[in-house]
Amino acid sequence: MVLRMKSLLPGVAAAALAATIVAASAEDTVKIGLIVPLTGGQASTGKQIDNAIKLYQQQNGTTVAGKKVEVVVKDDGAVPDNTKRLAQELIVNDKVNIIAGFGVTPAALAAAPLATQAKVPEVVMAAGTSIITERSPYIVRTSFTLAQSCTIIGDWAVKNGIKKVAVLVSDYAPGADALNFFKQHFTAGGGEIVEEVKVPLANPDFAPFLQRVKDSNPDAIFVFVPAGQGGNFMKQYTERGLTGIKVIGPGDVMDDDLLNGMGDSALGAVTAHMYSAAHPSEKNKKFVADYEKAFGNRPGFMAAGGWDGIDLIYQALKKTNGNADGDALIAAMKGMKWESPRGPISIDPDTRDIVQNIYIRKVEKKDGKLWNVEFQTFEAVKDPGKTPAAK
Ligand code: PHB
Repeated sequence: MVLRMKSLLPGVAAAALAATIVAASAEDTVKIGLIVPLTGGQASTGKQIDNAIKLYQQQNGTTVAGKKVEVVVKDDGAVPDNTKRLAQELIVNDKVNIIAGFGVTPAALAAAPLATQAKVPEVVMAAGTSIITERSPYIVRTSFTLAQSCTIIGDWAVKNGIKKVAVLVSDYAPGADALNFFKQHFTAGGGEIVEEVKVPLANPDFAPFLQRVKDSNPDAIFVFVPAGQGGNFMKQYTERGLTGIKVIGPGDVMDDDLLNGMGDSALGAVTAHMYSAAHPSEKNKKFVADYEKAFGNRPGFMAAGGWDGIDLIYQALKKTNGNADGDALIAAMKGMKWESPRGPISIDPDTRDIVQNIYIRKVEKKDGKLWNVEFQTFEAVKDPGKTPAAK
């Protein structure tokens, strides 16, 4: 068509027409730059998010409000310098309308100034430090905050006869949030922290830290390690003979993605979290079955963050009638409320952070498989970690 018209029209007019056609097709496409770790220690996070988005687009199509939605996937290896460079390239060269993903807090923070400068929404699907959404008015989060789950497990521990706790957290921002929010609530209720250990984020060898925990003789060990590390942690916990010490924490350590590889020493672990593959809703049963069928593995909480992130983008585009302007999309996302595989969720219009149920779960065996079985629900939990009113 273009070629035939070109031969009929004088050169200049043909060039103008071709340019118009290119511009029109660019306008008909909404581009999402998905920056996630697909290699390195956090690779399982990126894989889960990428899988969930692929599944979502298979089921819901790649067109919304008359626009084609194109996802450009980039691997940052969870290295913030890479995240920043990739975000810049995606915004400037690929002209993406939205950046999304962000497997770890430092990656989400590295992209924040670029989102602000370019007025491009940054949809955080994985990282969990409270401060992230405060770093740019263009950030919206569909994952969780550590404060949401750690305040709740802190209160639960005191009420359930746990008096002495040793804390083991990954030594970076979300680990600090996990420790602080747990400690505030647990000690306010009369609990005692008998040991605090911080382990390196990259390739951690837990053994020497676990020895210190064992020597402190606690009733329970409160653990935060990021998604992807729970399997290795539980292996060393078992090998070091800590199995008499109850595991509690946010749910990251009991990621459904790895749970069945942990063995029976995971049984009885009690964690607070926003997603369990055992969540008994119809929506989640379908999500788990479809994900397992497509990828041969159970979805974990990072898959839920990815699924809801792309769902939020689709819904926002519907609301704006396909207008992908950054301010229009952010306005559409604020206050959005919908049903996720994890349960009912919404975007807090004031903070752009996710409001969601937090469930307390216990690892149990059913039909030979391990599951995080939810037994108590805290509804519509806002992030308790927002400044200045950090509670
Ligand atoms: C983070 O870096 O914010 C992060 C990563 C993985 C988690 C939780 C928090 O499981």
